[in-house]
Amino acid sequence: MPSHTEATLFAHIDRLLADAFAACGLDTDGVRAVPAQRPDLGDLQCNAVMALAGRLRRAPRQLADEIVARLAPLEDFTEVSVAGPGFINLRLSNHVLSTFAAAQASAPHAGIQQQSAETIVIDFGGPNVAKPLHVGHLRSLVLGESLRRILTAQGHHVIGDVHLGDWGLQMGMLISEALVLWPDMAEDGPWRANPPFDMQTLQDLYPRVAAACKADPARMALARAATAELQAGSARHMRIWEVVRRVSLDAQARDFATLDAHFDELLGESHVQPLIPGMIADLVARGVAVRSDGALVIEVARDDDESPMPPLLLEKSDGAALYATTDLATILDRRQRHHPSRIVYVVDQRQSLHFAQVFRAAQAAGFTEGITLVHVGFGTVNGVDGKPYKTRDGGVAQLRDLLADAIDKARVRQNGDAFPEDEAAALAAAIGIAAVKFADLSTYRTSGYVFDAERMVSFEGRTGPYVQYACVRIASILEKARRDGVVAGAIDVRERTERELVLLCARFPDVVASSASRYAPNEIADFAYELAQAFSRFYAECPVLAASNADERGSRLALSSLTLGVLGKALDLLGIRVPERM
Ligand code: ARG
Repeated sequence: MPSHTEATLFAHIDRLLADAFAACGLDTDGVRAVPAQRPDLGDLQCNAVMALAGRLRRAPRQLADEIVARLAPLEDFTEVSVAGPGFINLRLSNHVLSTFAAAQASAPHAGIQQQSAETIVIDFGGPNVAKPLHVGHLRSLVLGESLRRILTAQGHHVIGDVHLGDWGLQMGMLISEALVLWPDMAEDGPWRANPPFDMQTLQDLYPRVAAACKADPARMALARAATAELQAGSARHMRIWEVVRRVSLDAQARDFATLDAHFDELLGESHVQPLIPGMIADLVARGVAVRSDGALVIEVARDDDESPMPPLLLEKSDGAALYATTDLATILDRRQRHHPSRIVYVVDQRQSLHFAQVFRAAQAAGFTEGITLVHVGFGTVNGVDGKPYKTRDGGVAQLRDLLADAIDKARVRQNGDAFPEDEAAALAAAIGIAAVKFADLSTYRTSGYVFDAERMVSFEGRTGPYVQYACVRIASILEKARRDGVVAGAIDVRERTERELVLLCARFPDVVASSASRYAPNEIADFAYELAQAFSRFYAECPVLAASNADERGSRLALSSLTLGVLGKALDLLGIRVPERM
């Protein structure tokens, strides 16, 4: 019997390997099994011998032979061999595969290893008030939501915060205009429950006002004055600010809901403004912030910087609040309220200089004791021409239109009247959104990718709908079994495709751990696609409900259910829902 002290198949095999290395008097660091490069020679391989042999000045193959002599008698393996310069190939017994498949099937979280719980703040989304969400927000929302789920699944306490851009000159511009258009708005009154504008009004208004301010210094002066009044806490300005913020957040929240993105906090730049004067005074008193040409800065350059790192601008000579200053104060606020051990910012890679400055300044200020700050950057969404995605007339594409495009394409692919109208519409939405999310998450985040709705919604190839469909298919097999009164039984793995399925499922905990540590959901997307394919090979070769006897049927049903558990969890970690039928 294999010992059951290890939770997963890979942990178990690694333990056996380490024991064998130790019994040969060898160091066991980095001794682990990885999927075999040559499936004809084994299921797994261990590559640790070569480096060890080099250090010990011993012949690697001879060393490998000694280890193999320890492993070969174990009933966990049916074949242990040495290949090439000293690779150890392992063929696992059906018994060990069956045992660990059963263990994973009954393990909570599909076997995902629980970490000692950290409190992690994840800052994603980040829209600005009075502007609709656009293509640039897609990746932050999709990646951020997936990372939120992955870290939560590892047992962490995760706090998602949208960090709205709801302060500063843009608000002053809008308020100064509102005071002219709707003078009553400065006073308290029923308009607050029923504002004279909606999101559409705001999003049309904002670019016009911004352009007017740019063109006319007198108009700009009004905007600056309104900003200063707001920042000084004028009740008239605050009333307008509050409603503008609410109207635009309500509209943005509908897009969050469409994308199934969840936030624990909907705070923003405004929330930390009260902390800024005290923070600045303290930084000046401690000599962390210094005057430079009338402005207040924090020097963040280091001797070994490859390219020059400009100082962080804390306060301009006119005293206006700045993006970086707000981010510094937000670190203080999050530290006070949540005591996080990590703050993760899922923000466009083009802001990497900003975050490098903020992180260094926070460290210099002593704000980061016990906190790791991470910028999880990402590349652009491109059009089929390979350039950043634009609308047909060259404008910035709104997130809403982008999603509508994918949903329409998903709709067109549906065959006629297979489903009643309302279900068909809901299904197109589920498939369209899954298509967009899967495409976004299947490339490593720092590379850009092409938004090609037509390709994304295809049921063939590396797409969201392909993986969703695999889930639906397995679920319908299980459902049919339930109706026929067939129950899952003991897993008894025999066929090649069954072994392949179990081995792949067994990798899931490591895939999740790795994707969490690299902030790389694409590893889970790749895995999900591979698993969906492996299931379809299994299903083609191994009849489930039509298996030749009850034991085989029971085992294959249990395998199908294990696969659905793992695949469903993988999709859930990507933030993708599985429809009931499709
Ligand atoms: N509102 C910002 C923008 O549109 C993004 C905010 C990202 N988060 C942050 N803590 N800076 O660029």
